Amino acid sequence: MEVFIVSGASRGLGAALVAQLLGPERRVIAISRKPNDALAQAARAAGAWLDWYLQDVADVTAHEDLARAICAELPRDASRYVLINNVGMLGPVGGAESLSAAGLGATLAVNATAPMVMTAQFLTATQTLEAERRIVHISSGLGRNPMAGSAAYCASKAALDMHARVVKTEQAQRANPARIVSLAPGVIDTDMQGELREKDPAALPTVQRFLDLKSRGELASAAVTAQYILAYVARPDFGTTEIDDIRNYPNG
Ligand SMILES: NC(=O)c1ccc[n+]([C@@H]2O[C@H](COP(=O)([O-])OP(=O)(O)OC[C@H]3O[C@@H](n4cnc5c(N)ncnc54)[C@H](OP(=O)(O)O)[C@@H]3O)[C@@H](O)[C@H]2O)c1
Repeated sequence: MEVFIVSGASRGLGAALVAQLLGPERRVIAISRKPNDALAQAARAAGAWLDWYLQDVADVTAHEDLARAICAELPRDASRYVLINNVGMLGPVGGAESLSAAGLGATLAVNATAPMVMTAQFLTATQTLEAERRIVHISSGLGRNPMAGSAAYCASKAALDMHARVVKTEQAQRANPARIVSLAPGVIDTDMQGELREKDPAALPTVQRFLDLKSRGELASAAVTAQYILAYVARPDFGTTEIDDIRNYPNG
């Protein structure tokens, strides 16, 4: 039996991941602010184990409590434990001079602090287990390449990348090291892309690029991206390259 924890599970990439994980040999734990009734129904129909926690992870203290509670309740007899930190928000766009504490705080909380808090509880709760432990941060190419008008988002994803590097370095000293990858998922046809396309070019000068990707049909589907990510998570060499991009694996 495998255990998967997926944040940002109600829509987009997270929902596609959960949909493909539902099955008799898995326990799936999902987190988001809103429910996804179709996924809950699919789980019931398949007799699959799906626990859903509704929470705004921007409240990082409440999220830490929830993460601790979820991890304390994990079954102890799984062969593999996988945490997919998928939750993310675009946050404020506009020049760096326009960023407010509120906008920055929410974006860094959701995109960086919440995944790190969940990782801390996951590592703590599973450290004495002999099973495999794998962590995926869903990062972004924008954590590695700057885009004008998106400093909050870019900085939050760069933070995830460095967090993964530090965790890998620390775990290398441990008896049963958890493996971690900060993974850019490509450009996916989700609500987040829709939000990007609606931005004022004065705030986000590259908005036309996103409009063009959509009109040319060049966005990846969430379902295909999820399929590739789950194949990646199962790779024997998972964790060898801790900063990676799913587009490096074009055949899944
Ligand atoms: N789409 C892309 O092209 C793209 C490119 C690179 C990286 N990414 C990354 O891929 C991941 C998934 O993105 P997506 O495109 O699927 O985004 P999305 O369609 O906007 O979905 C975001 C998910 O996160 C949840 N969420 C957002 N804010 C939350 C909060 N404060 N508390 C709890 N849950 C919250 C949402 O659910 P609720 O609204 O129900 O809470 C939803 O399930 C993100 O980390 C994103 O940064 C996406």
